[in-house]
Amino acid sequence: MKTIYSCSKCGTQFPKWSGRCLDCGAWGTLEKETFIEDERKNKTENLKDVKVDFIDLSKIKNEQVKKIKTGLIYFDKIVGGGLVSSSLVLLGGEPGIGKSTIISQIINKNLNTLYISGEENANSVKSRFDRLEIDSKLVKFLAENNIETILAGVMKIKPDFLIIDSIQTLYTSEVEGDPGGVAQVRACTVKIMEISRKFNIATLIISHVNKSGDLAGPKTMEHLVDCVLNLEGDRLHRFRILKCIKNRFGATDESAILEMTKSGFKEVINPSKIYLSSINPESSGIAITSIIEGNQVLMLELQALVSKTNFGYPKRTASGYDQKRLELLIAVLQSKLDLKLNLYDVYINLTGGFKVSDRALDLAVAMAIYSSYENKKIQEKSVFFGEVGLGGEIRQIPKTKERIKEAVSLGFKNIIIPSFEKQVEVKGVNLNCIKNIKELKKFLI
Ligand code: TYD
Ligand code: MG
Repeated sequence: MKTIYSCSKCGTQFPKWSGRCLDCGAWGTLEKETFIEDERKNKTENLKDVKVDFIDLSKIKNEQVKKIKTGLIYFDKIVGGGLVSSSLVLLGGEPGIGKSTIISQIINKNLNTLYISGEENANSVKSRFDRLEIDSKLVKFLAENNIETILAGVMKIKPDFLIIDSIQTLYTSEVEGDPGGVAQVRACTVKIMEISRKFNIATLIISHVNKSGDLAGPKTMEHLVDCVLNLEGDRLHRFRILKCIKNRFGATDESAILEMTKSGFKEVINPSKIYLSSINPESSGIAITSIIEGNQVLMLELQALVSKTNFGYPKRTASGYDQKRLELLIAVLQSKLDLKLNLYDVYINLTGGFKVSDRALDLAVAMAIYSSYENKKIQEKSVFFGEVGLGGEIRQIPKTKERIKEAVSLGFKNIIIPSFEKQVEVKGVNLNCIKNIKELKKFLI
């Protein structure tokens, strides 16, 4: 028996426990793993008896990877044209976001499907199927947590499509530790991978995300699978984004905006306006901006609240936007616009429950903070997009033209963008190309 400690965040292994992972710096993430050492490992001479099957690559026919179309057009588009047999797709998302709903909607008559649930019993799965009008005869169902039993079931049925809901509820008797721990999640994923490769099964594994929004479980799990999808959004709202963040068989810039209805998810075809309550916000501290999701432009509200710090250290809280980036922008605003933000708490919130790393948001964040600090509204029908540099300069961002086009079509009249070479002329619209955040003052009223 050998004992090691693995970080549940980055997967790095250590011989001794410590309170902090020395690799990624996370606190309290080291978990104990015990395993039996492979006896062959230390005895090289024993390896000569091991059977090895080499493959002659020249005899492999150059066939295109076969992609199985599912019932969902947007899902096929996101995974790169359909499910690849023997591939593993990981679907991550917060509890209650709709993971089980999406995978149930994939089931169709062209796929011989085996549905494994470690979370729900047959009754709740059946009632979901009824709600989604899915013919229960299309699926074989197993409510099981033990991976060995699951594998036996897979071998009996040899499905085209295997659904695992969720990896955090499975365990193998070969490894110690609770289900959901690093060692169990990794061992179970490896076992599922082996069986999908062997029997050419397209497998979809559901995984929960942890508090910080990362996939729970070791990073190594992401390396093992072929495709990683994320279902994001605010549980309390109807809309979600299904994004692809890794794909061995296609591009990763595809995504779909979905609406949760009484009968499951429906794709929203023209989503640009859905997150916008008004193109003319009534109060100070709200700036409108746009993000690019896949090839769609979404208009979102960026809200900021700047309030006097009561005691001690000023608070900075960002929801949907990078906290470090917020701190950096506050420092830039402080030094370039002379705002006394060191005496104020700053909270920002991006509507819609998205987590966005699009730098084009910077300008709207800066504007919303400035507007809240001065307690002045922003000019009517304005929209902001641009990256802010450390010197307060406004930098170019991708897809400016697409963003402008969408803003114009929604009725915005005042578009604030980085100055760029080829200016676009749009009738009836004020295109303000700005060079520095010092110019933001003129947009306050
Ligand atoms: P679920 O797919 O169970 O989420 P997860 O597997 O990610 O935990 O669904 C979450 C919510 O969606 C649940 O509160 C009920 C709601 N829902 C609908 O609104 N319409 C539907 O058709 C279905 C199936 C669920
Ligand atoms: Mg579920």
